[in-house]
Parts: sequence; C-alpha cells; structure tokens
Amino acid sequence: MADPWTIGRLLTWTTGFLKDHGSESPRLEAEVLLAHALECERIMLYARFGEEPNEAVRAAYRGLVKERSAGKPVAYLTGGREFYSLDFAVSPDVLIPRPETEFLVIGLLDAAKTQKPATGDALQIADVGTGSGILAVCAALKIPTAHVTAVDVSPAALKIAAQNAAKHHVAERIEFFESDLLAKVPPARKFDFIVSNPPYITSAEMAELDRDVRDFEPHLALEAGPRGTEVIQRLIPQAAERLVAGGQLFIELSPQIHEAVQQLLQADGRLDPLPTIEDQNRRPRIVRARRRD
Ligand SMILES: C[S@@+](CC[C@H](N)C(=O)[O-])C[C@H]1O[C@@H](n2cnc3c(N)ncnc32)[C@H](O)[C@@H]1O
Repeated sequence: MADPWTIGRLLTWTTGFLKDHGSESPRLEAEVLLAHALECERIMLYARFGEEPNEAVRAAYRGLVKERSAGKPVAYLTGGREFYSLDFAVSPDVLIPRPETEFLVIGLLDAAKTQKPATGDALQIADVGTGSGILAVCAALKIPTAHVTAVDVSPAALKIAAQNAAKHHVAERIEFFESDLLAKVPPARKFDFIVSNPPYITSAEMAELDRDVRDFEPHLALEAGPRGTEVIQRLIPQAAERLVAGGQLFIELSPQIHEAVQQLLQADGRLDPLPTIEDQNRRPRIVRARRRD
C-alpha cells in the first residue's frame, strides 16, 4: 500500500517540488500554503505532522502549489501579508508590502513625536500611492492624533486599502481619494507630513525583475519611466506646495536614484534635505526633507 499523504509527507514533497521550480524558501512556502489550505496557524502543522488531510484540503493545496510553482507570490495566494507586525489584506491589485517600507514607518513615527500639528489637534498626514494602505493604516494606528489623507490612482487598490483601514479600526481617521498624486485632494488641505512609496523602477529594470514580481505585481505600482524618477519629480513640487512650514516629506526610493532625487529636491528649492534613512542592507532608501519656513 502506498504511503499515506500525511502533513509531514506533503511538506517534504512540496518543498522539493517548489525548490525545483525556483523558490528561494520552499519549505516556508510549503508550510504557509498548507496552513492556509487547512485554515490553521503554521505553527500547528508541527503538532499535526502524522495527520492525513482530507481530499478537499489536499485538492485546495494542490491548486495553491501549482499556482506558486508558476510564479504567483504566496501573499496573493493566501490574500495576506504581515507588515510592521500587523496583518494586511493584499490582492494582485496592490503591491505586496516590503520590509524596506517599515523604515519609512519607523522614521515617520519618530518624527511625529516632536511635530506639533500646524492647525487644530490632529497631525495631518498624506500617503501618496497608498496601495494596500499600509502606510496610512500604520500612521493612523500608531499616531492617535493623526488624520490621514490616502490617495491612489487605482480604484481597485483603494478598495483593498479601505478594507485594511476597517480591519484595523482606523477607517474613521483615513480619508481616501482616487487621484493622480494630490490633484484631487482639496487645494486648501495642508499637511504636517507627506509620505510616499511611489513607483520608482526604471523601464530597463522592469525587464530584469524576478518573474514573481514582473509577471504578477501591478506595473502601475512599480514602473516610473525610463529614469525611475518620473513620479517623484512630479511629487516634489506638489509636496512643497502642500506641506506646512516645518512639515516633512518622506519618500521611499531605490538607492540607484538617490542622487538624482537629492538634485530634484535642491532644484525645487523649497525643501531642506534631512539625513536619508538606510534600509536593512544599509543602502539609502527613505529620502527626507523639511519644508522651509
Ligand atoms: C510602490 S506602490 C506602494 C504601495 C504602498 N504604499 C506600499 O508601500 O506598499 C505605489 C502605489 O502608487 C500608486 N500610484 C502610481 N502612480 C500614481 C499616481 N500618479 N498618483 C497616485 N498614485 C499612484 C500605485 O497604484 C501603487 O498603489
């Protein structure tokens, strides 16, 4: 009689299969997908190693493994990703949150400790290109006095962001706009902080990206244009216009365009550069600047 397909055996087999299909962390992915099919915590698999999942679970798992082996990212298969120790819903309409972006949150929360709201009691924060809403939600959740204006050109992304705002119980302090950068945000609205993780990949870099990213994540979230600075170049003057005196701008970028963005800030002339925040690989990642008085 053939060996039974226990949880332990399924994991061993899938690890080899995903490895052969180019996965860099096949065991972890096998576990995450099986836990998703079983609707249990990943840690629980270890207590259930000898158990044989029923055919419905095995069929669901086979489907997930097949899609993963074709390159679909695990986060899109499970519909979620952890960011800043919080669970966020994701779909193929939004970028999968990246660990580098946590450095922007850390920088923002740190700066918010000493920033007095320019008007009223609420710190006004704009998140430009909110995607899944991670920056808007973290700001609203961790800064109790924050009122967040979150924009995106993608209506499908805004739906996911709104879902995440509701999931984390901060929907009443986040206002969403479908807008090209800040164009549709009421002109009188000024901000103490403007944060953005905009598209910053060059057209040439797009071709070099891993298949999982290039073929599955939204190009609207990734590609800026031939230079990589195209979206940031339009954002800088809008941010200078909308920040209060002393207000701060945080922009995530790729280290390759760091110098070019510093030059754009200098050329605008209304924002003083602050030290850039480095990422986990000690590369320049989050550019900061303060609106001059
Ligand atoms: C790199 S993703 C960042 C998403 C999210 N903030 C994060 O950090 O994971 C960039 C987002 O900007 C949006 N976007 C692209 N061009 C835009 C524009 N001109 N105005 C507003 N949003 C834009 C995309 O739809 C996408 O959701």
